[in-house]
Amino acid sequence: MNMIKNNYWDNFDHPQRFSTILIAWQKQHGRHTLPWQNTRDAYRIWLSEIMLQQTQVSAVIPYYQRFLQTFPTVQSLAAADSETVMAHWSGLGYYSRARNLHRCAQQIVAEYDGVFPSDPALLANLPGIGRSTAAAIAAFAYGTRAAILDGNVKRVFARLFAIQSYPGEKKVENDLWQRAEAMLPMQDIESYTQGLMDFGATLCTRSKPACGRCPMQSHCGALAMNKVNELPIRKPKKTLVEKHTHLLLIIDTERNQVLLERRPALGIWGGLLSLPELDGQQIGSSDSAPEQDLFVQAVARFGTLASCQRLSTVVHTFTHFKLHIVPYRITLEKRLDIVGQLRHVWMDNEQLAQAALPAPVKKLLVSIL
Ligand code: ADE
Repeated sequence: MNMIKNNYWDNFDHPQRFSTILIAWQKQHGRHTLPWQNTRDAYRIWLSEIMLQQTQVSAVIPYYQRFLQTFPTVQSLAAADSETVMAHWSGLGYYSRARNLHRCAQQIVAEYDGVFPSDPALLANLPGIGRSTAAAIAAFAYGTRAAILDGNVKRVFARLFAIQSYPGEKKVENDLWQRAEAMLPMQDIESYTQGLMDFGATLCTRSKPACGRCPMQSHCGALAMNKVNELPIRKPKKTLVEKHTHLLLIIDTERNQVLLERRPALGIWGGLLSLPELDGQQIGSSDSAPEQDLFVQAVARFGTLASCQRLSTVVHTFTHFKLHIVPYRITLEKRLDIVGQLRHVWMDNEQLAQAALPAPVKKLLVSIL
């Protein structure tokens, strides 16, 4: 992280210089006619802020208007059944927002007599309202002097102060919050907050920012260092742990069926039907030649091994690791009946098409059968 200098407003001669410029810019160039502006109705402001989390203004507007027609007050939303609320959200995405919205409305009615609190700390305790959203609601509805820090604002500050670390990192984020607090104006928090949003959305954009008409030109660290396109620093790519496994495609060629095995409840693909697995340790490194005995033993319960062929490795990426799957196509000479257990099942093509299988297993089966 770049070193914090004496002040959080380093680039300005006065802590309020940034807000003074921004407020003047907002009044002249900002947005003033969005459907959730020009009101002090906390319900309408809250609804807009929740819808605008991760969603563009143009996509939100029709949903916002339809929502308000059906649920004009927090009481009407709280009293609605969840199906109706979800139906009005359908198409907007990130559906946990709708569930939290409904719960939040019920809490506002039950605990606050239908009136949203003006204290951002209280707002931030409600479902679906984080610190930045709480501050935006409090500022727009009640004029509360509170700092926002959403993705756009992080970008603006990362450029303005030439922050050379990824803003998603906790200590960088904490530093940005302190800057956001230090930059707050003494008055006109509404224009300032809207100004930050408008500035990030229309001028200091992620790609092709309009530095040529930016009122912060002479204060911007990124511009001075010719690093506008490099800042903010992108999320560092995770190096994924590499795991290896060996899956057996045990085929009864006579009946054209494949043997499936139910996975343990815990771990990857928990509880799903999959292919029988030999873990990497049993075979050694994934590149070692298959040891015939091991395969003979592995299939002994199901029949006599006729052939075993190693197929090309398939790589599947999970959130936290990369799985290298080495598949083996095994044919049986004499199939034995499965006795005394429910973990294994033979399936033909038609049954396989219906079965809930892990995606890479399904892909493997399609390519083999
Ligand atoms: N994004 C989040 N809140 C917003 C608002 N009030 N106006 C425009 N864009 C926003």
